[in-house]
Amino acid sequence: MPRGYFITFEGLDGSGKTTQLRRLAAWLEAEGHRVVTLRQPGGTVLGDRIRSILLDSRSETTLGPIAPLAEMSLMFADRAQSIHEIILPALESGAIVLCDRYTDSSEAYQGAGRQLGSERILTMHRAVCDDLQPDLTLLLLPSIEASLRRARGRNKRRMQQKGPDENRFEREDDDFYRRIYRAYEEIAEREPQRVVPLREDASIEQIEERIHEIVSARIPAPVI
Ligand code: TYD
Repeated sequence: MPRGYFITFEGLDGSGKTTQLRRLAAWLEAEGHRVVTLRQPGGTVLGDRIRSILLDSRSETTLGPIAPLAEMSLMFADRAQSIHEIILPALESGAIVLCDRYTDSSEAYQGAGRQLGSERILTMHRAVCDDLQPDLTLLLLPSIEASLRRARGRNKRRMQQKGPDENRFEREDDDFYRRIYRAYEEIAEREPQRVVPLREDASIEQIEERIHEIVSARIPAPVI
């Protein structure tokens, strides 16, 4: 049985989860914990290749339209690799693992956004991820409008700087994001022990403070 602690961050694009993940990692390290961070898709060599296929809006010019089930399967191929290469070894060594997105993203984006249904995603999770569940999921749920404004603004800046194109999902319409938002709310209702929703449109510092409270209530300080 793994000895570490597994925390995932979830939310819409632009919900602020990546900033909060970085801040939590720094805080936990300062408290003396050993922390391993990663994001999905990506984080392994195979995963980074899968990420560029799935996120680059130019992929469809070279590959043709990606079928929703192919998209889902690639997300799980990425996840299986990072569980094997990073997550399980880190948990077995007693580290705290912070993962930017995990299976809840597949349930929200592919299950609800692409309308493949939750059941198919959960079945896939059991088969491919050996049902490895996070101990805690921090679900950042500021309003859809605030999230999308941030995500789309960020993409425009990236395009102007000619950085990597990671726009494939962010071109979707508002209904796609409304379905995702609703799916996240349903996951939080279904699994209140694991999933803690943070709904406030509050400042980065206020949300960070709240995350410290939630995490310190669950993880005892390390014995140094
Ligand atoms: P990410 O890099 O976390 O984007 P952001 O920082 O904008 O939140 O995630 C990339 C995109 O991949 C994001 O639009 C959500 C999507 N995604 C899925 O559709 N299914 C999944 O299982 C995962 C992990 C991500």
